[in-house]
Amino acid sequence: MIGVFDSGYGGLTILKEFLRELPEYDYMYLGDNARAPYGNRSHEAVKSFAEEGIQYLFSKGCILIIIACNTASSQVLRELQEEYLRTPKVTDRKILGVIKPLAEKSAKITTKKRIGVVGTRATVQAKSYDHELQSLDPTIQVYSQDCPLLVPLVEEGWSHKPEGRMILKKYLRPLKSANVDTLILGCTHYPFLIKDFRQIMGKSVNIPHPGEVVSASLKDYLQRHPEIEQLLSKKEGRHFLTTDDPVRFKEVGDRFMKTDLKNIQKVDITKTTK
Ligand code: DGL
Repeated sequence: MIGVFDSGYGGLTILKEFLRELPEYDYMYLGDNARAPYGNRSHEAVKSFAEEGIQYLFSKGCILIIIACNTASSQVLRELQEEYLRTPKVTDRKILGVIKPLAEKSAKITTKKRIGVVGTRATVQAKSYDHELQSLDPTIQVYSQDCPLLVPLVEEGWSHKPEGRMILKKYLRPLKSANVDTLILGCTHYPFLIKDFRQIMGKSVNIPHPGEVVSASLKDYLQRHPEIEQLLSKKEGRHFLTTDDPVRFKEVGDRFMKTDLKNIQKVDITKTTK
C-alpha cells in the first residue's frame, strides 16, 4: 500500500493526481487534522507529529509513504529518512517528499535562473527549496515568499473572493518585482489558486502543477525501483484516515477531491510503537 501523509486536507491535491496517474495501487491517506495547520509550528512539533504519522502508516502496512505536506517535507523529511535507514526492521520501507521533484522540474524549465517559491512560514524558513535548487544549479537565484493567510482562505472557500485575490496580489508583488520566470507552489493548498497565480504572475511565468509533478516523479521512482514496486498491493483500495472529525473531513475532502469520499475513519496516531 502507498501511504500519503499530510497535516490535513491539502495532501488530497497530491493524492488526486496519484489516483489519476497510478490508479492500480492501494492508497492510505492520513490527515493530521487535529493538529493542523503545521505551517506556523516549530521544527520540534512538526518532527514529532510527522514521525507519529509515518509510524502509524507503516504499522498499517504501507511500504512507501509520500509526505505530501510541504511543511513536513521541508522541515523533517531528511531526518526521518535517515532515522528509518538506521532501523533494521524497516529497510524495505521508503519515505519520499515533494520538495525534490518540484525543485528538479523547476530547475529544468527556468531560463532566466530566477525562481520564486511560495509556501507556509515554516516551509520558507526551512529553505529546503533554496538548498535543493542551488545544489542542482548554483547559478539559480531563489526568491521566497511566505503566504500564511492562503491556507485558511482556501479551507474556508474564500480564496476566489475579491478579498482573497487582493491578499494573493500583495503576496506576489515582491516576486513579480524580482522578475522570476518560474514559480514553485510550495504548499498543498495552492493548486486551488493556480489560475489566480497564473493570472497575477502573467503568461511568461511557468507555474508547474505540484500534483502532476509529484505523481510523474512517483511513477518514475516505481519504474526505477521494481524491488519496492512489487511489494505494493494493487487492488485499487482507498482508505482515508483523519485524527479529527471524519464528518468535517468528508465535507472539505469532497470539495478538494471533487468526489464522494468513502472509508473515512478517525484514528489516534499517538500510541503506535516502532
Ligand atoms: N500541508 C501544508 C503544507 O503543504 C499546508 C497546511 C498546513 O500549514 O498545515 O505546507
